[in-house]
Amino acid sequence: MSSGAATKGSPSSKRGVARRIPASRYTSRSWQDLESERLWTRVWQIACTEDCVADPGDYWEYEIGPLSILILRDEEGALHAFQNVCRHRGNQLLEGSGRGLTEVRCRYHQWCYDLKGHLRGKSRNDELAGRPGPVSLLPVSLDTWGGFVFVNPDPDCEPLDEFLEVLPRELAWLGMKDFSCSQFMTVPIACNWKVVVDAFIETYHLHAVHPQMLAIADDVNTPITLYDKHTMFMQPYGVASPRRGGDVSNQEIWEEFVRNLGHRLGLPFASAEEPGPHPPVPEGKTIRDVLVSQIRDHLATLGSRYEDLDDTWIIDDFHYHIFPNAVFNVFAGWYGLIRARPGPTPDESFIDMWNFDLLAADDPDRHPRPEEKFLRPEEVRALGPVLLQDLDLLPNVQKGLQQPGIDTLRLVPAEARIGRMHEILDRYLSPPADQRLPD
Ligand SMILES: [Fe+2]
Repeated sequence: MSSGAATKGSPSSKRGVARRIPASRYTSRSWQDLESERLWTRVWQIACTEDCVADPGDYWEYEIGPLSILILRDEEGALHAFQNVCRHRGNQLLEGSGRGLTEVRCRYHQWCYDLKGHLRGKSRNDELAGRPGPVSLLPVSLDTWGGFVFVNPDPDCEPLDEFLEVLPRELAWLGMKDFSCSQFMTVPIACNWKVVVDAFIETYHLHAVHPQMLAIADDVNTPITLYDKHTMFMQPYGVASPRRGGDVSNQEIWEEFVRNLGHRLGLPFASAEEPGPHPPVPEGKTIRDVLVSQIRDHLATLGSRYEDLDDTWIIDDFHYHIFPNAVFNVFAGWYGLIRARPGPTPDESFIDMWNFDLLAADDPDRHPRPEEKFLRPEEVRALGPVLLQDLDLLPNVQKGLQQPGIDTLRLVPAEARIGRMHEILDRYLSPPADQRLPD
């Protein structure tokens, strides 16, 4: 990799990182209300992908806490976002997603808006009712990056490019915009949305919750980079964790790699097939070299985008948290997005799981319209052991956080990304003294 690369090394932030987190942030209604009032209304967040609203007349409802935001594409192809509410008596206008929209009509009293959000001329009924003069739907800031539609309910917010800091430049090598969404699944879970994010931005729990992963991932030499709001780590793959003390065979590495990341070798996602014996490892080479070579062969079938990159960019995990609630697990040719959204109470949330594949330029399946699938708990099993292990655990964390004695969470250095997220939460929320991060 020659340029635009992620930084390797110890956490790059000059300032200290919060090590103690008040537990009530995860359980109290007052904190959740503060997030509804001061976070979700003022922060850039991923609403959907551009493929969700690819054509004129396509629309998509994005729900976050009590907010409902309507994203639609007008007749000229421009994207707009509005608060999903009629300016008359406050009825919600649309629900879910759909196509072929030519107007937005409120079903309560038939007030009708064009796709740019302007109230249309008065109908005979409007005249009879004495409808007042022009009014428009409430605008929400919208911009796109990497094939995603970002929204911010604050019409006066900073530009998205400024919010994303260095990430667009740093992730340019991946070519995100060219990827296609192969899966979009939502599952409800009995824990706070931050319990979800916390679990997905540290590797400290790997040895305890996902011990099988120690055969193929180095969870110790995982350098963290802290930007201002966002964070990342780089995790080497195809090598065993030092925690295993060198007792891992090539066959074990091969089997675990195929079970967890076989799709990177061109196999079906979460393939149930037995991995079989590992390929021969030439003299002077390692099983990681063999895996890199097989991934390169697979990537070459998709085009030449990654052919000049060093091995780390081919096999390792570049793992990003975009504040507040989006976690990207990035590999060459494939990435997953976990988005956590608050539920109706502090003890509930929704996990949205998106998978994206780079497909060959002539592949007819490129850029499908993503279809959200709501998973039943038993269907999560089909997604592979790692996700299941996390989802089994997290409701227990939420139950533990309810105990009156656990007033503070204590972070270790490997959890620096969690500390940074909470610092930025304080910046948005200006919480009362008893819920602020300790100095
Ligand atoms: Fe995990």
